Amino acid sequence: MRPIASQLLAQTNVGGRHCNPPAAALLLLLCLGFPPSVAVCPLDCICASDIISCSGRNLSTTPFDLPSYATRLDLSHNVITTLPTDWIPQQFARLATLVLSRNTISQIEVNAFNVTPHLLHLDLSSNQITVLNFSLFTGLNELKELLLYDNQIVLINPGAFSDLHSLQRLYLSGNRLKTFPFGLYFEPGGPRNLTFLDLSYNRLSQVPVQSLLSLTQQGSIYLQENPLVCDCALLALLEYWMWKQYQPLMDFRDGYPCRDDSGTGPICNQQGVSNMPLESQTYQEEPGKWLRVPCPGLASSTQEGLVVFWVTPMTVLNSSTNDPSAHLIVLPNGTLEIQGALIEDSGTYGCVVARQRHYDPYESVEVNVVVGNLSAASASGLTHRSGTEHFNTAFTTLASCVVSIILVLLYLYLTPCRCRESRGGSRGCGGRAILLCSDPREAESGERRSNGKRVAFLEPQAEVSDIGGSKTPAMNLGHVTTEGILKNGSKTV
Ligand SMILES: *[C@@H]1O[C@H](CO)[C@@H](O)[C@H](O)[C@H]1NC(C)=O
Ligand SMILES: *[C@@H]1O[C@H](CO)[C@@H](O)[C@H](O)[C@H]1NC(C)=O
Ligand SMILES: *[C@@H]1O[C@H](CO)[C@@H](O)[C@H](O)[C@H]1NC(C)=O
Ligand SMILES: *[C@@H]1O[C@H](CO)[C@@H](O)[C@H](O)[C@H]1NC(C)=O
Ligand SMILES: *[C@@H]1O[C@H](CO)[C@@H](O)[C@H](O)[C@H]1NC(C)=O
Ligand SMILES: *[C@@H]1O[C@H](CO)[C@@H](O)[C@H](O)[C@H]1NC(C)=O
Repeated sequence: MRPIASQLLAQTNVGGRHCNPPAAALLLLLCLGFPPSVAVCPLDCICASDIISCSGRNLSTTPFDLPSYATRLDLSHNVITTLPTDWIPQQFARLATLVLSRNTISQIEVNAFNVTPHLLHLDLSSNQITVLNFSLFTGLNELKELLLYDNQIVLINPGAFSDLHSLQRLYLSGNRLKTFPFGLYFEPGGPRNLTFLDLSYNRLSQVPVQSLLSLTQQGSIYLQENPLVCDCALLALLEYWMWKQYQPLMDFRDGYPCRDDSGTGPICNQQGVSNMPLESQTYQEEPGKWLRVPCPGLASSTQEGLVVFWVTPMTVLNSSTNDPSAHLIVLPNGTLEIQGALIEDSGTYGCVVARQRHYDPYESVEVNVVVGNLSAASASGLTHRSGTEHFNTAFTTLASCVVSIILVLLYLYLTPCRCRESRGGSRGCGGRAILLCSDPREAESGERRSNGKRVAFLEPQAEVSDIGGSKTPAMNLGHVTTEGILKNGSKTV
């Protein structure tokens, strides 16, 4: 900016009056409102245009002369203990990434982040934070990712996360939390779009199973390596996650107390749990009528002390909810009763109960409910699914693959190759037959996840700007799983 302006000034200033071009340029810049912020790298830091790294410099306070054009500031591996409100004298309007990991920060003053309103990524991992106070993160309403792992957090005060409207990923692993941080989800002003929450390596002994069943429909919650008490409700939840192949459980299966294979879980009420294969079924009723939907795998005898959850398209219910005025209730024997069915009640319903059965991909713990016209509903994709379809898809994929191989062989051997006649004959023939044939096993796993639909498509590369924010739902919700297939497809292309 400066050289160009001074050249311009030198050229236009032909009137002959004596003038010092650099000084005039500076004056001009000041008049135009540009502060004379000169690119000076702080003494202890390394700068690369807009990246400033002051990592591992034994700093106990932040450097005072940080240039305001930075978009990434790394202050990790220092000995900073406090982040005061005036840790930087001017606004850091462009800062998107602030790394403060591996310091000894235990105190962050109120409004300390008001100077960085456009921060997207904040790393406070490996510090000594013990309490997250009210309004700790005020001003960070664009923040997408917050790293707080490896601190000593015992308490999250109400309102600690207010203002974090855009937060998508939160890492609270390796702290000392004893209770599930509900406020994150239910306090006003909190993160509404949180899709990733890591609570592993904490001290949680109990988790709110019913709430988790609904929260994990919109995102991933990691709970491995907590001293969880494996009661019947938790066992039911873990079994259900197995059936849904819920990624946070599948990836860390050994980190949960009641493992699928050990068979050493608590003795839940097993009376009435049948050994019949679990089959997905469709229940249909006219609008306004009553409908009873039995829980798959539970026999008809009435049972005491059985915890049965139903995951419906709108909500999650359990068998000890005693609200007779509700429109959906779970009877003591686990049967779901829909009173005065509405068209909106249609959808896939999951029955969550500790059956203590091994996960079997051919079985389903879900049922379909159709209110209204069955043919119309099945046209919109709400179809009955049975275990044999897995085999059918795999078989048809294999059969079509064999047919296409034969066709390609016919094409190769029965048609004359014309490429040799064209000039520069190296092009063409070699690549003319491309055989696209998917692996039947892959087709089957795709089938398992996709509930009967295979979609081929070309997906543009995932956006880089979106900091790891996974847009795919963490768990397949019955028929609404196209995004899962999309992700699957992009991996195999
Ligand atoms: C770090 O700084 C402190 C004083 O601020 C000094 O006593 C100490 O020796 C320094 N450590 C290293 C490794 O330079
Ligand atoms: C929260 O407040 C307490 C008491 O005022 C203070 O000791 C602690 O350092 C604060 N936490 C943070 C992260 O600033
Ligand atoms: C949450 O995500 C939805 C869909 O991606 C978006 O439309 C909405 O603006 C987001 N809300 C906030 C507060 O970021
Ligand atoms: C069952 O539902 C009620 C009311 O929603 C709730 O208070 C209770 O905690 C739930 N039981 C379990 C085991 O989650
Ligand atoms: C559950 O109980 C209801 C009424 O008490 C009964 O009509 C229904 O048949 C029972 N369902 C099963 C599967 O036992
Ligand atoms: C269901 O819908 C189809 C057309 O969408 C209609 O032809 C049929 O009569 C309807 N059946 C009932 C029972 O309403």
